Amino acid sequence: MKLSTFGRKFSADTGLTLLMDDLGRALSSDREVMMLGGGNPAYIPEVQTRLRQQMYDLLLDEGRFERAVGDYAPPQGNVAFIAALAELLHRTFGWDIGPQNIALTNGSQTAFFYLFNMFGGPQPDGSFKKVLLPLAPEYIGYADTGIAPDLFVASRPEIKYLDDRLFKYHVDFERLTVDDDIAAICVSRPTNPTGNVLTDEEVAKLSNLAKAHDIPFIIDNAYGKPFPSIIFTDVKPIWEEHVILTMSLSKLGLPGLRTGIVIARPEVIKAISAINAVISLSPGGFGAFLMTDMIRSGEVLNLGYEIIRPFYQQKVEQALTWLRREMGDATCYIHKPEGAFFLWLWFRDLPITSAELYQRLKARNVIVLPGEFFFPGLEHDPWRHKQECIRMSYAQEASAVEQGIRIIAEEVKRAYGA
Ligand SMILES: Cc1ncc(COP(=O)(O)O)c(C=O)c1O
Repeated sequence: MKLSTFGRKFSADTGLTLLMDDLGRALSSDREVMMLGGGNPAYIPEVQTRLRQQMYDLLLDEGRFERAVGDYAPPQGNVAFIAALAELLHRTFGWDIGPQNIALTNGSQTAFFYLFNMFGGPQPDGSFKKVLLPLAPEYIGYADTGIAPDLFVASRPEIKYLDDRLFKYHVDFERLTVDDDIAAICVSRPTNPTGNVLTDEEVAKLSNLAKAHDIPFIIDNAYGKPFPSIIFTDVKPIWEEHVILTMSLSKLGLPGLRTGIVIARPEVIKAISAINAVISLSPGGFGAFLMTDMIRSGEVLNLGYEIIRPFYQQKVEQALTWLRREMGDATCYIHKPEGAFFLWLWFRDLPITSAELYQRLKARNVIVLPGEFFFPGLEHDPWRHKQECIRMSYAQEASAVEQGIRIIAEEVKRAYGA
């Protein structure tokens, strides 16, 4: 097969394909696997009951099911959903936005492919611009989205040690430079893989930097407020004219329905809609149909605040207790979990790489993710820290998380030679 440059780049093995392969294989094998590697949200019974009810309502409502499956939405996405969401965001946060500020995509991952390539890459004047990720580690899913290679540039973080084995990454503003070759700044908040939530001060500074350079500030809000609300610190979501906020229905419990949301100024929304039309005619609308009533009534907020957030909060506290117990004297720092559903573990001066640790854990049926994939934009930086971390999800069954943690601790101690 003779592939184009695009064909080669997008079919090459990447961190993400390794993750997806492991995930698929683990879930379809007969062995009992502790799947702590994926980004799947938990099955939360109360949420599933509500979603099932929405489905019944949709089926029973004369004509609505037929419209949900029988019509293409406009390229911008389902009109009623967009209107309800604009109204909800205005009501909740006071943002001055309307339907002209929202577009839907087939999952927010697709939105990142559009956005990074809309702004970054070769420019009409012959120059080349990059997307700045001001806080590494950052979401693995960004890493390979550039049509042009080397689309990202990142900055090492400042590390603050906290009590109880915890630490927290902060943006190192001393290191951060926004040159003319930066097309956009992007952060995930809460951050996958670390569970970090950038402080309001950090966000304000980054936002001002972007504004001063007349470039967009992209905030990936896949886990944040107002839904799914997997965020344990009290920070303020922001939106302004130069901000592009992305959201998703996935972490609420609907990853199968591939519904991503982009909130931005109208010219960005027009561009996203146009790209939707070229790539997929229109975004899939089933998620929008299923959720419009819950968005309109505001019930989606209660689902987040009263069910989803407490569910994950309880799970993370339990996982932390197990980790501290099992790790004993081993060197294991845990990034302060402030949101999302991952624990980011740092084994300082570990004699083996996290890729080797990943293999040893896989041999014992525990799937985690080696940390080195989570440094898009720092690929060429020989920082040892990149090979000292792993990401584990705590969203899965408690028994799998507990047993997985026990095995991780055993393998880590073995690696340290304890
Ligand atoms: C930080 C972050 N952003 C975006 C996504 C993409 O999610 P989706 O395409 O399901 O909306 C994910 C999925 O894991 C994520 O963790």
